[in-house]
Parts: sequence; structure tokens; C-alpha cells
Amino acid sequence: MRAVRLREHGDADVLQVEEIDRPDPAADELLVEVASAGVNPVDTYFRDGSYEPVGLPFTPGVDVAGTVAATGEAVADFDEGDRVYGTGIGNGGSQGAYAEYATIPTDRVVHLPDGADLTEAGGAGVAAVTAWRALIDHADLEPAEYCLVHGGSGGVGHAAVQIAAAVSARVITTASAEYHDDLAEYGAETVLDYGRDDLADAVREASDGGVDAVLDHRLDDYLQFDADVAATGCRVVGIGENSPDPGFTNDGAARSKDVFYQFMSMFNTPDLRVPLRGVAHLMDTGALSIDVARSYDLEEAAAAQRAVMGDSFLGKLVIEP
Ligand SMILES: NC(=O)c1ccc[n+]([C@@H]2O[C@H](COP(=O)([O-])OP(=O)(O)OC[C@H]3O[C@@H](n4cnc5c(N)ncnc54)[C@H](OP(=O)(O)O)[C@@H]3O)[C@@H](O)[C@H]2O)c1
Repeated sequence: MRAVRLREHGDADVLQVEEIDRPDPAADELLVEVASAGVNPVDTYFRDGSYEPVGLPFTPGVDVAGTVAATGEAVADFDEGDRVYGTGIGNGGSQGAYAEYATIPTDRVVHLPDGADLTEAGGAGVAAVTAWRALIDHADLEPAEYCLVHGGSGGVGHAAVQIAAAVSARVITTASAEYHDDLAEYGAETVLDYGRDDLADAVREASDGGVDAVLDHRLDDYLQFDADVAATGCRVVGIGENSPDPGFTNDGAARSKDVFYQFMSMFNTPDLRVPLRGVAHLMDTGALSIDVARSYDLEEAAAAQRAVMGDSFLGKLVIEP
């Protein structure tokens, strides 16, 4: 089979397509014929060596969707030909999905309902599971609460806007102007340009004085901002940053409103199948669409990884082998 591999850490040029043996699934694994593999920022961290170590040679790709080609001997709930999607491979413990076939343990893969599209599902894993974990599990988002999603056009952001809208929260999101109409269609009540000078005032105005929950993917930019626009008891969930030194300039703003800060990694999800099933249900019913901005061949993996870090797009980039 063809698989993208890296033999040393480095920039995107280390990604090369090689012809390698098709893997056999272990007892508790599925072999999946890959239809679509999401391209995520974290794939680039594994590639450049800045995240946890991976064994080389290594195939990136945390997310996968496709059809079951073979099952391990202990697998009872899946059959050859089943449509599935999952996440949590392509890290320190396993090879990833930028390949014609990938193996995935059954504790991180679920059946894909008929109404959900395989290409979209390939891009759903990290983005939508992270959004689900942040808003449903950590922020405990309730109907009619105000929820601020920073960067609503991103992979996580556009899933978060739709998941928050699906629980009838009142969604305020920020994005470049070109994506405002799409995000309003995805259920955002208010869409604001993240570059505007009066952003904090605009968020407070849109939320009757303060928001109840925040999804923050750039903590170094927004840790203080989140406290400044918070309502009392606001839950802020932090998933990322550009430089690892976020800090407060006035922590009293957080203290005086009893703001909760929760930082998270999707890889710590106790049972990935729970949010995967929730996300699959929303895709099946049409409440959640994964907007596939661009699709790449295996040979274009380097371009895809450059784009995920450097380009502006709405939604997700995927590789379709
Ligand atoms: N902790 C976890 O488990 C977890 C899971 C998934 C992702 N993450 C992290 O979360 C971050 C986002 O991931 P992603 O996959 O959603 O990335 P993405 O698809 O590249 O989205 C990033 C978004 O940020 C927007 N943005 C750029 N500058 C901004 C600013 N100053 N203020 C607000 N938004 C801004 C971009 O909009 P424009 O293109 O219009 O500039 C883009 O929509 C990454 O750092 C990733 O590593 C963490």
C-alpha cells in the first residue's frame, strides 16, 4: 500500500510517499481502508518533533474515516465493509492515517451513520471531539447560555459553533470577515471580526454584559480577555496557544467573577467513543457539517501540512488517498 512516511523530524519536506506492506490488525484493532484523513495542527507537531516522541519511520494522521477491510480476532462489534470513523491514532503509540490503510484500536472508533459523509467524517475527529469535550464535558454548556468561540472559522471553531448551537446556546464567535455569513448559517448569533479594537466591548454588548462559557484556542492572546468578558461563574476552556507563556495582566478580573479555567488535551478523553458517537449523531441529523475546505492526495501531504499552519480557510483540510 502507499503511505506517507517521515524518516526524520523536520519541516514538511520530510513527508514522502512510500510503498510499504499493508499492516495486519492486532486482536483488538480494525484495518480500515482510508477514505479520508483529517489534517490537523497536531500532525505537524508530531512531524517536527515538538510534541511527544514517535517511532521512526512514522506515518502521520490522527483522524480517519473509511470502511473496515479486516478485523482483529477479538473484535466482535465490527464487520468487513462497515463504515467507521475515529481519532487518536498517528501519535507516539501508533501509525497514522495518511495512507491507503490504517489500523485503529476499537476503543477509539465508532460506526458512521448512513446520513454522515465519509469525507467529512475524516476531518471530524480531533476538531469536533475537542469541541465536544470542551463545551459539553468541561464547560457543561446549557441552553440559552452565552458561549464565546474564538476563531470560529477554524477546524475546532466551526465545529464548536455548531455544537454550541445544537444545545441551543447563544453563540458569539470571532472570525475574519469573509467567513461571517457562513458562521451565521452554522448558528452563530453574533459574529465579530477578531481584529477589531473594541472586541471586548462588542462581546459584552452581545452577551448582556458577559459570557457564560469560552472556547479559547489562543491562550496567549486571550487569557486576560476571557476574564474581562466573563460573566460571574464563566467556564473558560483552553485548548491551545501560539507561545506557551500565557499570563494575566489583571488576574483580579478573573477572581472577582469566580472564573473557572480548564485546560485540556483531546488525547486525555477517558473514552473517545462517547464524543465520537455524539458527533456522529449530530452529523447524521444535519446539526453538524464538517466543512471540507480542501482535499489532498497522499503525494500532497506536505502541501496540506503547510496549509493547515499557514493558510486561512473555513473548516477542515483532509487527505483522500
Ligand atoms: N488541546 C487539544 O486537545 C486541541 C485539539 C485540537 C486543536 N488544538 C489546538 O487548537 C488550535 C486550533 O486548532 P484548529 O485545528 O482549529 O486550527 P485551524 O483550523 O488552523 O484554525 C485556527 C483558527 O484561528 C483563527 N485565528 C487566527 N488568528 C486569530 C486571532 N488572533 N484570534 C482569533 N482567531 C484567530 C484562524 O482564522 P483565520 O484563518 O481567518 O486567520 C483559524 O480559523 C491549534 O493551536 C491546535 O493545536 C488543541
